Order: sequence, then C-alpha cells, then structure tokens
Amino acid sequence: MKENENLKIDSMGNWTRTHDCGALRKDDVGQEVVLMGWVNSRRDLGNLIFIDLRDREGITQVVFDPQVELNTHQRAHVLRNEWVLAVKGTITPRLEGQENAQMPTGEVELKAKELKILNLTETPPFQVDGAVDASETLRLKYRYLELRRPQLFNNFRKRHSIASCIRGYLDRKGFIEVETPFLTKSTPEGARDYLVPSRVNKSMFYALPQSPQLFKQLLMMAGFDRYYQIVRCFRDEDLRADRQPEFTQVDLEMAFVDEEQVMGIFEAMMMELFEKILDHRITSPIQRLTYRNAMNRFGTDRPDLRFGMEICDLTDIAGRSDFRVFQGVIESGGAVKAILAKGGAPSYSRKGLDEISEVVKAAGAKGLAWIKVTEEGWQSSLTKFFKEEDREALNKRLHAEPKDLVLIVADKPGIANQALGALRLEVAQQQSLIPENEYAFVWITDFPLFEYDEAEDRLAAVHHPFTSPFEEDLNLLTENPEKVRARAYDLVLNGSEIGGGSIRIHDLAIQREIFKTLGISPEEAQLKFGFLLEALKYGAPPHGGMALGFDRLVALMTGVKSIREIIAFPKTTSAACPLTDAPSRVDEDQLKELGLRLYSENNDT
Ligand code: AMO
Ligand code: AMP
Repeated sequence: MKENENLKIDSMGNWTRTHDCGALRKDDVGQEVVLMGWVNSRRDLGNLIFIDLRDREGITQVVFDPQVELNTHQRAHVLRNEWVLAVKGTITPRLEGQENAQMPTGEVELKAKELKILNLTETPPFQVDGAVDASETLRLKYRYLELRRPQLFNNFRKRHSIASCIRGYLDRKGFIEVETPFLTKSTPEGARDYLVPSRVNKSMFYALPQSPQLFKQLLMMAGFDRYYQIVRCFRDEDLRADRQPEFTQVDLEMAFVDEEQVMGIFEAMMMELFEKILDHRITSPIQRLTYRNAMNRFGTDRPDLRFGMEICDLTDIAGRSDFRVFQGVIESGGAVKAILAKGGAPSYSRKGLDEISEVVKAAGAKGLAWIKVTEEGWQSSLTKFFKEEDREALNKRLHAEPKDLVLIVADKPGIANQALGALRLEVAQQQSLIPENEYAFVWITDFPLFEYDEAEDRLAAVHHPFTSPFEEDLNLLTENPEKVRARAYDLVLNGSEIGGGSIRIHDLAIQREIFKTLGISPEEAQLKFGFLLEALKYGAPPHGGMALGFDRLVALMTGVKSIREIIAFPKTTSAACPLTDAPSRVDEDQLKELGLRLYSENNDT
C-alpha cells in the first residue's frame, strides 16, 4: 500500500449510482451516468486509460481521455485492480471495430469526466478473474473476493430464485413455514451428531438437528396439517462433492395423506420449478423404479437414467462354461453379470482394461473379465471356456455386435450389481455417453425397511426408524424382517439423490414393534425418543412427508460440479472454514464455564 499512502479516499458525497455495470446498451448513448464498482482490469496506453469496471451485474468499459478531462485522466494513472471507484461521465458508442460481442455492454463505453476513488486495496492474493486457478484453501480464505465474479454471483441469484419459487408454490398449496429448534436432541438420520455443551446444565449436551424429522411429525400431531421449512441440517459425516456438514433441506410434512399425495406435491413442485427457472418441461409423470429393480438394472438406488448400459444377468450362460471362477461363484450362490459398452472395444487397451478393473475392485468385486466382440468372434481370455453356441447366446442376450466391449463380474449378486453400477458410470464418462443439459428424474420406491449392518451385527433402519412398513408386510416383521418393505420414496435426478421421504408410523404399537426389531430396548427408546412415543398416545393423525436436498438441486440446476460452488461460505473436505479458521480452540475459561476439560490436550491424535 506504500505507494498509495498519500492517496486520499474520496467520500461518495452526494453522488448517486444511476446504473449497474451490466446495464448500459447502445440505446443509452448520450446519457450522463454514474457507475460504481471495482476495477476488474486496466490498460494504460499513456494517452488513453481503459478500466473495466465490475459489479455483480457485469462489466462496463470506462475510458479516461485527457481531451475530455485532463485532471481526471491524470488521477486515473494510479488506479489498480480491485480499487473501488465511482465514475461520472457520458455513454458513447465504441469506435468501429472496437465493439466486444462477448460483453452485453460491449457496444458502448463510459467516457469519464469525474472520478472518485472510494477505496484502495492491497494486492489481492489472486485475481478475481483468475480465482479458478488458485488453490481451494486460498479461494475459501478469501471467499469474498472469489464471490465478486459475476458468474459466481449468478449462481446465488439462481439459488435465490429457486427458493422463492418453492416458497411461492408451497404457499399456494397451503403449507406454512415453521421454524424448529437447532439446540435439540439427536435425530437419527444415520450420521454422527454435532454436539453443543450446555453451560447451564453441566455435563449435558444439545445435538444440532440432522433434520427436523421429529419436530415436523409433532407439528402434524399438533394439527398444523401442512408444514414446510427451508432449513439447515447438520451432519458429521465424510464429506464429498455433494455433501457438506451443514446443508439445506426443503423439508415438508403433510397430515392425512398417502405416498401418492406427497409424491404428487413434490412432482408438481419440480415441474413448476424447472419450467419457471430453466424453461424446461419435465416429462410427467416422473417414472418410478422399485429399489430391487434399480439395484438389479443399474447397481445403485440412485441410477443415472440419462443413458442405458443396463446390467444384464448371464448366470445361466456362464454356468455352462468351463471357466473355474464363474463356476465357483455360481456354486456358492453368486451370479455372473455384465454390462455392454457399445462400440467400446477399440477404445480400451489392456492397460485401459486394467485401469477400469480397479473400479470394480474398489466396489468389492474380485475381478473383471472382458470380451471384445469382433467380426471374427470373441477376443478374450474367456473364449476357450465357452462353447460356440454359448458365445452366440451371450452375444444375443447383450445384443452385442462387432466393436462392442462386454465387461463381466462374477460375485455375490449384490456385489456384482454394485461393482457394475460403478463401472457403468465410469465407462459412460470415459466414452462421453452422458448427455449434458438433460434431466432424468426417477422415483425409487419399495425400499426395504431394514438392512443388515455387518459391522454392528444387527438390523438398521434404511431411512429412519419412524418410517411406516407396508401394512401387508407386517406379518414378516418377526420372522423375516429384511423382507419388510418401507413406505419410503427417494427422488433421483441424473444419478444424484435429491430428496427422500416416507409415510410415518402413527400407531404407537407399531412404532414400539419397529424399535424392538431394531434392537432398541424400551428404556433406550424412552431415553432417546420418549417425547415422540408420548405424543403418539394423544391422537396422532396418519402423516408423511419428504425433504429435498436443496444444495444438490441447485447444483444440478446451475450445472456446477460441487455443492460448494452454490454455498456462500462452504467448508473444506476436512470440515474446516479457512476464512474464519473454524473450528478453533477456545479459552480455558470458556471450557471451565462449561465444566469441560480437554482429554487430548497434550495428545493431538
Ligand atoms: P435424508 O437423510 O434422505 O432425509 O435427507 C434428505 C436429502 O438431503 C440431502 N442431503 C445432503 N445434502 C448435502 N449434504 C449432506 N451432508 C446431505 N445429507 C443429505 C439429500 C437427501 O436426499 N428427515 C428425512 C426426510 C423425510 O423423511 O422427510 C431426511 O432428512 O439430497
Ligand atoms: P484369474 O484366473 O484369477 O487369473 O482370472 C482370469 C480373468 O478373470 C482375469 O481377467 C480376472 O480379472 C477375471 N476374474 C477373476 N475373478 C473374477 C470375477 N469374480 N468376476 C469376473 N472376472 C474375474
């Protein structure tokens, strides 16, 4: 800042901004205007000085010409990037050949008469324009600089429009927004809780809500009928591109409804949203897949349906081969499954095939077998194990033609599905089979109510333990709990789970039965969810609802790769905020006040 030490900062005085930096067009030529914003870039040609002035709406070129105003031109020599300016002058057309078709304001420029320097800056750690090249930690540390980019700001404007559209829609449908506590008790959504120690009640902790699940159920019991909230949820889990420790849900709950009504409300909301925001018509009704079908055909409960490449069962054909691996797997109850990469054979060398076999191994499979189909027959280490007629049968089942690549996994059916599901995505990406600007929605229904948790050696709830079972499956609860289906539904868009919900249990006896099946003792249930069990005694209506992952939806609608790009101040993958340095240590006194002592003070592991 030294060189500018003597530079005086001007006050805005009585100047009023007349336009934003994205507004001016040819029609405005001749107007006297005042623009305010940041210096995006400057070119000092000695005689003429050009400044690109930026605000959230865009960029306007400002010219300082000594023939217009000598003093102003002289002052403009010192301007640097990211200084904050107010410029008064006249809009003029750019000289012929100097127009910039890339910029909405590219036909005009502001001929500066007067200049006010409203603030200076130290050299920024990165160019606002060039932020994309800086490391993530640096970008997040100076997030406010990165957010100055109009392109980034536009994502937030879109996020805002989506939220307003949702609010408008739910308002018309009779939903009212109700806030629920953040300092509360644990809600079981499958992640770890963030805990907050209580000063007043020593040794006691609040949990930040993983979702407002139990409160929205209580609101139904209170007769509120239709509730919604655009609400922050907190989950301590491993972070990825589409997961943040705090994220936003569009959470809703309805009384006296079945799944069709909840799904109907959401489906119509999606249609309105995509039509209004993206001018895109969603094909209605949104298709549905049962959980079982989704797993068998796509190897995942959040299939990307923008492309095919479905998983195909080859167990019967493979069982007739002499390949020991296949025989062994089938004898122990496994399956042989495959996907077909259409025209993919020439793109995969042995090295490429080795690389993609790592994908199935990461998903728990033991190996990947492959067949390149050619005019002359199979090119594969499997050829010798298959009879001619079985090779033909396999080709026919997969509709395989010359140049196609068959990728096979033999394993327990669940593992084979999952491995091929992961491979299907990888190959589709490598082969550029996923169309951009397409929106493939699908509802996943008929989830199992429970899944077996190997690590804990007990049953766990697939959604949360308040999800209602299918009435006709209730008789399986004791004998065959894994066969019980849940009245739950997930909404998937382009391979991303954007929402999920269910019809809840409103019958106390069934709720107790479910806790029992989950191995939650009556004492534990009382301790954790006693207030809900109590409320179920006093006339709970049938009810159900759903929550939409708002950040994920906005990311998909703005076309960004990570939800971090549409969250103003996101956390890194290690759940830290480089901007504020949170989380951070606290004073000894604060700990004392809370009645806490750090266990690992001298041992940071
Ligand atoms: P669920 O746990 O499925 O359901 O959450 C609903 C949706 O929230 C999004 N989501 C996340 N987004 C970003 N970061 C995260 N860490 C994260 N975790 C979840 C997903 C998900 O589909 N109470 C139930 C809803 C209900 O039954 O009504 C619930 O929270 O898009
Ligand atoms: P191996 O007999 O282990 O050398 O394997 C021969 C080929 O079969 C290699 O290409 C392996 O990757 C593949 N393979 C091994 N195990 C499996 C499996 N479970 N499913 C599919 N292919 C496999």
